[in-house]
Amino acid sequence: MKVTQAEIVISAVRPEQYPEDALPEIALAGRSNVGKSSLINRLINRKNLARTSSKPGKTQTINFYRINEELYFADMPGYGFARVSKAMRAAWGRMVENYLTQRQNLVGVIQLIDLRHPPTRDDQDMYEWLKHHDMPVIVVATKADKISKGHWPKHRKQVKEGLSLASEDPLILFSAQTGQGKEEVWRAIGDRLRD
Ligand code: GTP
Ligand code: MG
Repeated sequence: MKVTQAEIVISAVRPEQYPEDALPEIALAGRSNVGKSSLINRLINRKNLARTSSKPGKTQTINFYRINEELYFADMPGYGFARVSKAMRAAWGRMVENYLTQRQNLVGVIQLIDLRHPPTRDDQDMYEWLKHHDMPVIVVATKADKISKGHWPKHRKQVKEGLSLASEDPLILFSAQTGQGKEEVWRAIGDRLRD
């Protein structure tokens, strides 16, 4: 997709704040610091439209980015971030869960996994939960630049098996740093928009 327009529309904490123009939405899920916001920036060729940080827990609201009057990316807070209070974690969980289960315009979720490591328990739980709710998932294994190409197949297999990936869900190796996998991610998004 050729991105000509990309803007943040709202950082929402409550459903009343979600956009009302009924464009299809793709949500980003993944552990804190895995690279959700960086993936958005790379896909739309903007350095820092989605705010990123080397410290986990940067994104704490659901941030809606409108792309070309065609779709929204919903950048969500990461899971598995230990340094916040239990109450705060519960509040995040509720916000994300409500969004994922209630949102009519949601057509798919991009779940990011760190290609370097086997999926964590949180990654497995998230994927299983999404599948339980019949959500189409595009699994993006990111930070591929940190692994030598020769080892990609082994790590790919680790992600696929660690999640018990469903046959209908694509698994794409990606790097926000090099742009590896960008076109493939856009194609997978296009498939979700056309369905
Ligand atoms: P939260 O908002 O805290 O949930 O994090 P996030 O998932 O949005 O992660 P973010 O995009 O802020 O990236 C976290 C860190 O990882 C930053 O220092 C990024 O520069 C780095 N990073 C993200 N993607 C990649 C990648 O593909 N390769 C490398 N080498 N670093 C990456
Ligand atoms: Mg973020």
